[in-house]
Amino acid sequence: MAKTKTQSKVQYVCSACGSVQMKWLGKCPDCEEWNTLEEVEVRPAEKNRSPVGVGTFQNIQPVSLAHIPKDGVPRLVLGNSELNRVLGGGIVPGSGVLVGGDPGIGKSTILLQMAAEVARTSGVVLYVSAEESDHQIGRRAQRLGISEERLFVLPEIVVEQILEHIERMKPVLVIVDSIQAIYNEAGSSAAGSVSQVRDSASLLLRLGKQYNIPIFLVGHVTKDGTIAGPRILEHMVDVVLQLEGERFHAYRLLRSVKNRFGSTNEVGIFEMSEGGMTEVRNPSEMFLAERLPNAAGSAIAVSMEGTRPLLVEVQALSSHTTFSQPRRTGNGIDLNRLLLLTAVLSKRVGINLSDQDVFVNIVGGMKIVEPAADLAIAVAIASSFRSLPVAADVAILGEVGLSGELRSVGQLGRRLHEAVKLGFSRALAPRNMLRRGETLPSGIEVIGARTLRDALDVALVS
Ligand code: TYD
Ligand code: MG
Repeated sequence: MAKTKTQSKVQYVCSACGSVQMKWLGKCPDCEEWNTLEEVEVRPAEKNRSPVGVGTFQNIQPVSLAHIPKDGVPRLVLGNSELNRVLGGGIVPGSGVLVGGDPGIGKSTILLQMAAEVARTSGVVLYVSAEESDHQIGRRAQRLGISEERLFVLPEIVVEQILEHIERMKPVLVIVDSIQAIYNEAGSSAAGSVSQVRDSASLLLRLGKQYNIPIFLVGHVTKDGTIAGPRILEHMVDVVLQLEGERFHAYRLLRSVKNRFGSTNEVGIFEMSEGGMTEVRNPSEMFLAERLPNAAGSAIAVSMEGTRPLLVEVQALSSHTTFSQPRRTGNGIDLNRLLLLTAVLSKRVGINLSDQDVFVNIVGGMKIVEPAADLAIAVAIASSFRSLPVAADVAILGEVGLSGELRSVGQLGRRLHEAVKLGFSRALAPRNMLRRGETLPSGIEVIGARTLRDALDVALVS
C-alpha cells in the first residue's frame, strides 16, 4: 500500500483548457478560469493499464515518402451532400470526428440519420448510446423512418466493453453519443472528468486508426460555445464539427472548425423538420424567402461561408432613443463591428446616429463574421435612418474602412455567380475590385464605389 503511494504521483489538469499543473491552484494560469483544476493520478510507466483489445503499433514500419500513394484516402461518400461538404468530401476511414453543439440542437438526430445511410450503403454501423436507452433511440429511429438491419445500437458506457464490441464487429463506422458519458473502468476518476474523457477518447480513436474505422464522438458544448471537457479532445481528433442554430429557427448550421482532410469554415445547412434534419440545397433562396423588397432598412449582403457564397438579408432599424446613451444591438454580427460602422456613418457620411438606437439583425439566425458584409450593414442602417429603401435588384459586398473608404474582399466571381443565380441584376462593390481583371459572370452589372458615401448614392432609392 505504502509502496504504491510513493510510486504514483498526482497532477492537476484544467478542465477548460487541458493544461497540466504540478500543484493545485484556484485559478488556471493558462486560461485563467477559476476552479477548473482536477486531480489526476499519474501511474508509473510499468504499471500503466494496458488498454483492452488495443494492439500496440508494433508492426508499423517507416515508409518512403515516394511510395506513399498520393491520390488521397478513399472516402466513404455520403448521399447527404451537406454532410459531405463539411467533412471535406465524405468520411475518411480511420478518422476521428468530434461533433459538438448545444443540447437539443440535433446532434443525435443527424448522426443517427448518417448512421442509417452508411448502414444501408456500406456495412455494419455501431451506434454507442451512452446517454439514451435503446428504447429512446428506437423511438427516434421510428420518427425518422429508419430501420436498418446493419445499424446496431449499443447502450453502453464502459469503454472497455465498447472496444471489445468494435474489435468483434469491425463496423465500417462507429458513433459514440456522447464521449462525456463514457467511463473507463481502469481509470481512477469519476465519469465525465477530464482524465476519463481524454483516456476513453484516446482508446477509441486508437482502435479506430488501427482498424481504419472512422469514429464519431459527440461532445457537449459549454455556454461560451467551446466543446466542454478537455480542449485536448479537439487536438486528438482529425475533424471538429460544430452544430449551431437558434432555438426558434429551424435552420441548423454544421460548421467544420477543424479538418485535417479538407478546408475549415465549410458549412452544411440543414432544416430541423418533423422527419429529422433535411439538407437545404438553396440556402440563399431560403434566407431571402420572406424579404419585403422595398422596405427601408433591408439590404442583401453577399457573404462567403467557407467556399460557398451565401446571400443574406441584413435588417437595420434606427429609431430615436429615449436613453441618454443610445443603444446598439447586433443579432448575428459582431457588436464591435456595428459600433465601428455607426461611427463611420456618423463621422464620414454625416448621418448623425448619436441620438438613435440602432438594431441590426441577420435574417434566419445566420452569423456573419466576415467584413465583406460591412457595406450591406452600413447601407441598411443608412436606409432605415433616411427612410429610403435600398434598390431591390442590388446585392452588396465590401469592407468599410475607418475613413469611410471601401476595401476589397476576396472571391468576387463566386459571390456574383450566386447573386445572378438568385436574380439580382446589379451588384455594388468596392471600385478597386473591378480593376483586377477577374472574369465576372454575365447577366449582372457591377457598380464600383470608392467610398461609403458614393455607395449610398447608388444603393438608396429616393
Ligand atoms: P437531438 O438530436 O436529441 O439533439 P441533441 O442530440 O443535440 O441533444 O434533437 C432533439 C430535438 O430535435 C428535439 O427538440 C426534438 C427535435 N426533433 C425534430 O424536430 N424532428 C425530428 O425528427 C427529431 C428526431 C427530433
Ligand atoms: Mg443527443
